[in-house]
Amino acid sequence: MKCFIIAALTADGYIAKDERHPAFWSSKEDKKRFVELTKRAGVVVMGSTTFATLPRPLKERVNIVYSRTKTFEGAESTEKDPKALLADLEIRGFKEVAICGGAQVYTMFMKAGVVDQLYLTVEPLVFGSGVRLFNDDMLYQLKLMNSSVTENGSVMLEYAVHHGPQKTESSGVLVEERTI
Ligand SMILES: NC(=O)c1ccc[n+]([C@@H]2O[C@H](COP(=O)([O-])OP(=O)(O)OC[C@H]3O[C@@H](n4cnc5c(N)ncnc54)[C@H](OP(=O)(O)O)[C@@H]3O)[C@@H](O)[C@H]2O)c1
Repeated sequence: MKCFIIAALTADGYIAKDERHPAFWSSKEDKKRFVELTKRAGVVVMGSTTFATLPRPLKERVNIVYSRTKTFEGAESTEKDPKALLADLEIRGFKEVAICGGAQVYTMFMKAGVVDQLYLTVEPLVFGSGVRLFNDDMLYQLKLMNSSVTENGSVMLEYAVHHGPQKTESSGVLVEERTI
């Protein structure tokens, strides 16, 4: 089972201006990649705050929404631990799962150590403040697998997440930094 995060970021690292800000501000190339990759996966996972910004569930994909309090039309709601949810989806025949935000859900899956890949689009704009991609402490090394720049300056990045031992000291500082 492959699990990937997909997100659009400003150059200063925000995914939204605030939690009610719909995620439609990104470029057409980002939206195209989002549709392609999420349809390939067939299942999208998001938090109830993100789902509330959508006009309707994402079509032709199973929508799974994290909530402790609500149920949704056209979506399955869950409170499962990420590993348990992925195990269930694997039993249901899915080979890939797209984690579609927001910050709480991205952070929960990243911290559970189940994310294999990050598809990030860095858009050429800044918000100055807002919702960041992650909202808690973590340390993962990434390997850049692919990158490209669109005509309008959107940087499309694909990273693999390294799950082996991290090359760090107890302080969390990358060992290589000592040579600077
Ligand atoms: N730029 C992008 O690519 C992108 C992508 C996605 C989202 N966004 C933006 O991100 C913002 C929302 O992010 P967010 O971090 O505020 O919210 P979020 O992650 O979308 O949703 C948070 C909600 O998920 C539920 N939840 C979280 N952890 C849970 C758990 N362990 N068990 C059960 N339910 C759980 C809770 O819902 P209940 O309160 O219902 O219990 C919580 O209030 C929006 O502005 C959206 O547009 C941007």
